[in-house]
Amino acid sequence: MALSDFFAGKRVLVTGHAGFKGTWLTLLLKLLGAEVYGYSLLPASSERMYELVRGHELLSSELIADVTDLHSLQRFVTQSKPQLVLHLAAQPLVIESYLDPLTTYRTNVLGTLNVLAACQACPSVQSLTVITTDKCYENHDEGRPFKETDPLGGYDMYSSSKACAEILCASFRNSFLHEPGTMHLATARAGNVIGGGDFAANRLVPDCVRALSRGASVMVRNPHATRPWQHVLEPLYGYLTLARALYEGQEAAASAFNFGPNPDSVLTAGEVVAAVTTLWGSTGGDTAQSEGQLGSNSARFHEAALLSLDNRKAREVLGVKPALPLKEALELTVAWYRAWAQHSSTLRELSWQQIEHYLQKVEEA
Ligand SMILES: NC(=O)c1ccc[n+]([C@@H]2O[C@H](COP(=O)([O-])OP(=O)(O)OC[C@H]3O[C@@H](n4cnc5c(N)ncnc54)[C@H](O)[C@@H]3O)[C@@H](O)[C@H]2O)c1
Repeated sequence: MALSDFFAGKRVLVTGHAGFKGTWLTLLLKLLGAEVYGYSLLPASSERMYELVRGHELLSSELIADVTDLHSLQRFVTQSKPQLVLHLAAQPLVIESYLDPLTTYRTNVLGTLNVLAACQACPSVQSLTVITTDKCYENHDEGRPFKETDPLGGYDMYSSSKACAEILCASFRNSFLHEPGTMHLATARAGNVIGGGDFAANRLVPDCVRALSRGASVMVRNPHATRPWQHVLEPLYGYLTLARALYEGQEAAASAFNFGPNPDSVLTAGEVVAAVTTLWGSTGGDTAQSEGQLGSNSARFHEAALLSLDNRKAREVLGVKPALPLKEALELTVAWYRAWAQHSSTLRELSWQQIEHYLQKVEEA
């Protein structure tokens, strides 16, 4: 069954709906015919995709509020009676987690516990998907792709907070979700994503595009760090497939899943910047690849040099596999930012076109 046949008319709550992934997820769910409910704070960036695509117009109901406020969250969940919940709200930045470890842990761990409790108390919720990250694994820079069964860890506070969220979810499932009729719970671990509309600080592609749009030099913090890159729609499609499998009671779905690209999509940060700069064309300035030039507080902090995911479980259990080659993912991303740099008033329509293009690729794959 196509995702649109399943999601049409379903009541879906997205936490973090005002963020980068949350906005794309809202657009995708609306295209699939779902009723979308959103609970989130607004991202700190001055530019927000959520506002550029007038995201609030797409929601059946939304609350701009904190996931650490249990009463407010519980009230919103009870009122919106979602059938499926996707929990994306988080403090998602490694550098910010060094600067504010308390908020990072409060949001990512306590906030997740609140979402678990609020959903458990709401009988309409059948499916809860908690979004963590590929950084939740204990990483010794060995270069081996991580499997879901690998030990969890986290050098920095962001990564360890997400590892804690993983342990919390597994423990919550073991402790409270045995009885028939209780909701089904899974966690989703994806890697770095690219796509138009990300305006977060200290992320490679947004930093690169901001510099190019000003005609400035692009500085790369760790040009040799390798990451698996994928378009934001790839993990979102995976999350929705997982959410559906949970809703349908597929037993193997109630566990942890990696959503990552194929090995040929692993590039160094420097290679990504070179590709974006070429696609952007002639307007950009020089590309200066030097460690430690991106901002005064960036080079001080440890970042893993190697990170990649084994995506076999998602293929085998859910039938999810990457559909967009990296070259095309980069082209879509640069096309979106170009439209933004030209002050396009049709960014919502452009985003929907890109989603339709992606869904077509999924069908072909
Ligand atoms: N973007 C990536 O490359 C990436 C990679 C791996 C995992 N993730 C995960 O995906 C999820 C979404 O990330 P994103 O890139 O869209 O980040 P984002 O910062 O754009 O969006 C996060 C949203 O959560 C909201 N939020 C933060 N604290 C909150 C709180 N206490 N209560 C309610 N809302 C709060 C923010 O205001 C924002 O709207 C996060 O869980 C993140 O850890 C992202």
